Amino acid sequence: MQQEGFASFLLRQARVLDPEHHRDETADILVSGGILKEITPHLNIRETGLSNIQEIDLKGKWVAPGFVDMHVHLREPGEEYKETIESGTRAAVAGGYVAVACMPNTHPVNDCAAVTRFILDRARERASCHVFPVAAITLGLQGNDLTQMGELREAGAVAVSDDGRPVMDSMTMRRAMEYSRTFNLLVISHAEDLSLAEKGVMNEGPTSTLLGLRGIPAAAEEVMIARDILLSQLTGAPVHIAHVSTEGSVSLIRNAKNLGIQVTAETAPQYFTLTDDALMEFNTVFKVNPPIRRLRDVEAIKRGLADGTLDAIATDHAPHSSLEKDTEFEYAANGVIGLESALPLALGLVREGILSPLETVAKLSRNPARILGIPLGSLETGKPAHLTVIDPEAAHVLDAETFQSKSRNCPFHGWKVQGQVLMTVVDGRIAFTRLNL
Ligand code: DOR
Repeated sequence: MQQEGFASFLLRQARVLDPEHHRDETADILVSGGILKEITPHLNIRETGLSNIQEIDLKGKWVAPGFVDMHVHLREPGEEYKETIESGTRAAVAGGYVAVACMPNTHPVNDCAAVTRFILDRARERASCHVFPVAAITLGLQGNDLTQMGELREAGAVAVSDDGRPVMDSMTMRRAMEYSRTFNLLVISHAEDLSLAEKGVMNEGPTSTLLGLRGIPAAAEEVMIARDILLSQLTGAPVHIAHVSTEGSVSLIRNAKNLGIQVTAETAPQYFTLTDDALMEFNTVFKVNPPIRRLRDVEAIKRGLADGTLDAIATDHAPHSSLEKDTEFEYAANGVIGLESALPLALGLVREGILSPLETVAKLSRNPARILGIPLGSLETGKPAHLTVIDPEAAHVLDAETFQSKSRNCPFHGWKVQGQVLMTVVDGRIAFTRLNL
């Protein structure tokens, strides 16, 4: 973490949204010397004994626990031209995040303690927020030999995943679940049956037929989710399903939860906002894996968010440069950036009546923190402040050219949206602000 001064201010009359403490009320928040001192309906400044503390009027604004993105690609080590730990976490705090979990498909792959330690050292020197490495399940993401999970845990990994690739062999996945459990490491499943998805570049359906592009059926995702749910039941190990995109996936996860199987799941804004019609102009900015699906999938994802089947909203922030994106559709890389557009898109769900403000905040902060087992995602007095200040109404146009990320592959560029991050406080320090302080 960078060394900057600790924040001291009094946030006046904000809507305080803290799902962990079932709090949704108007209150004053006092932060002094970086510590979250008090949350109270009305604070008499004289009683605090603090003189000269800056007061910030937040009527109509929200204060939430700092957001946690459980699924990002920071590209360092190895692809620093797309993103670095420094630039990716600058994008994170601009998006309201106080912590990100970074996937292991770097170069070299994060499949040994040295790479995990490198990421954490680099984060300590240059990151604007907390970085929690997700290590690989198998060496080189090759799907064969398991990594040394005890060493990875000790080095600081919080979970394991071969994200970007599935673990195709079921016995290997079974062993991964049994082994990771010993070290309290969560398995995150990139659910994709490669034999069904083979060479597909978009969702399989009428649009892929029309465009003459090879499709990836929903079943490619669902088959693997079904398998991993069964393996979780068999081994007793929890499993987390990454980037859920289909109606059938939501229904499999819902049923598994009803049976008491320890499955959690995330989706991302692209899956509750876009449909595959977006590809009609062959614009590679919409190429992502899993692919954006049909309207009925989008609707099912929204229902899954509303009824709690989908616990978390992650971004799957996947930066790519124009080298990988400005090419024929077949050859373009999969991935969209998401850290700096997630909040207004998530707030769209509030405006549609799908989630309450408190539920939205839970999916952006408390739930991912709990799933990863990290001590964030709630407003705790007496501890260093981790919080995000939001203007839920601010109308603006998403402009990827102004983003902190090094990459520009944002499918929402030019969209008129509502809702903006005003300030992000990480460990008691102001890591990002749009306020005149
Ligand atoms: O679209 C994607 N991009 N999906 C993945 O699973 C990996 C990611 C990447 O690393 O670019």
